Amino acid sequence: MARDRLGGVENSEPSDEAVDLLELVSLPMFEEPANAQLAPAIRHYVAGGAADEHTLRGNVDAWAEIGLAPRTLVDVSSLATETQLLGIELAHPILLAPTAQHRAYHPLGEAATLQGARAADALCVMSSLGATSLAELGAAAGSDPWFFQLYVQRDRGFTEEVVRRAVAAGAKALVLTVDTPTLGARDRDKRNQLGRIDGYTYPILADAPTAAEEVAPHRRIFNPLLAPDITWSDLEWLVEISPVPVVTKGHLRGDDAARAVDCGAAAVIVSNHGARNLDTVPATATALPFVVDAVADRVPVLVDGGIRRGTDVVKALLMGASAVLVGRPIIWGLTLGGAAGVQQVIEILRTELEMAMALLGAPTLADLTPDLLWPTYAAEATERS
Ligand code: FNR
Ligand code: LAC
Repeated sequence: MARDRLGGVENSEPSDEAVDLLELVSLPMFEEPANAQLAPAIRHYVAGGAADEHTLRGNVDAWAEIGLAPRTLVDVSSLATETQLLGIELAHPILLAPTAQHRAYHPLGEAATLQGARAADALCVMSSLGATSLAELGAAAGSDPWFFQLYVQRDRGFTEEVVRRAVAAGAKALVLTVDTPTLGARDRDKRNQLGRIDGYTYPILADAPTAAEEVAPHRRIFNPLLAPDITWSDLEWLVEISPVPVVTKGHLRGDDAARAVDCGAAAVIVSNHGARNLDTVPATATALPFVVDAVADRVPVLVDGGIRRGTDVVKALLMGASAVLVGRPIIWGLTLGGAAGVQQVIEILRTELEMAMALLGAPTLADLTPDLLWPTYAAEATERS
């Protein structure tokens, strides 16, 4: 059956047309040419969300629906985006979210991603399902701080060894993904028969003892590299064995994030996994205030999902996030231009963030006070009237 489009994305064969990166002036502009260069199954693996993709669309739309309330006549001739996270000095609050298998997008894989991130002064969270071994990640990162995203394996002894090797390779924090006991209903991948990314290896988890389960594709629920039995005691165990801080990634509920902090999480990430797991969960912009209210006075709150514009970043910060992470746009940049593409994506987003700060009358991150959000300003103005 010829399928010309899946979820609005062409199923055409990859294009080898060169793309002039300098013509791409916003993150949204990277998506289509990047999709065009990827093989259909990989294109849909990246673009796709779970089921009917309500949350996939919502992640992007929700940021746009939040208004801003700029102050005027503020000297914004000098802008500063420096911040710190878990004791690490950051030039700006834009991190790279963990995404699997970077060699599916560029032959140099995660090494190019790390190189582009370094050039753009951005901190990377590297995936357990990366295409690059921990030793190679450490070598590519050099002295740059990076975090390791961990998928706990069914074999906890093996998991502990992965943690040890990640820290030995230089990871400065573990990011425990808590929202993925299994992958969601990824119809595009099923239609493309894409179980794991075909033809690629996962060196970090290559020796993971996995439970072979042969069930028909339409009855398949669990994934051999994702532990469905992970619980709060695993988080407590990780906090106990890890010499570096443990961050939890994948909260939408305030009570859930608060429990993670009670178990020792040093920071939490509001995320719905790029809308790839459970469809019809709220957009992360919708969930963020609930988690901020629950834990922001105890630990940093980060957020990812649908961040495409500098105004999205500034809104996340105004709503109480300490930093944001970006997923798909990094893949688009890597696909189109390797390290230079990754660097350009981050630099565009950072420039738009600084522009939004200037136009809001907020020259530093400390000046980003909640009243610069229109709903907050309007509620306060109404109360005063
Ligand atoms: C992901 N994400 C993800 N998360 C994680 O914890 N470990 C992983 O290996 C991956 N792999 C992965 C692959 C691809 C192709 C995508 C698109 C996403 C989720 C990722 O870390 C992040 O939560 C979202 O991508 C953020 O949303 P945006 O920026 O992609 O809209
Ligand atoms: C995904 C897994 C690898 O979202 O996290 O594809």
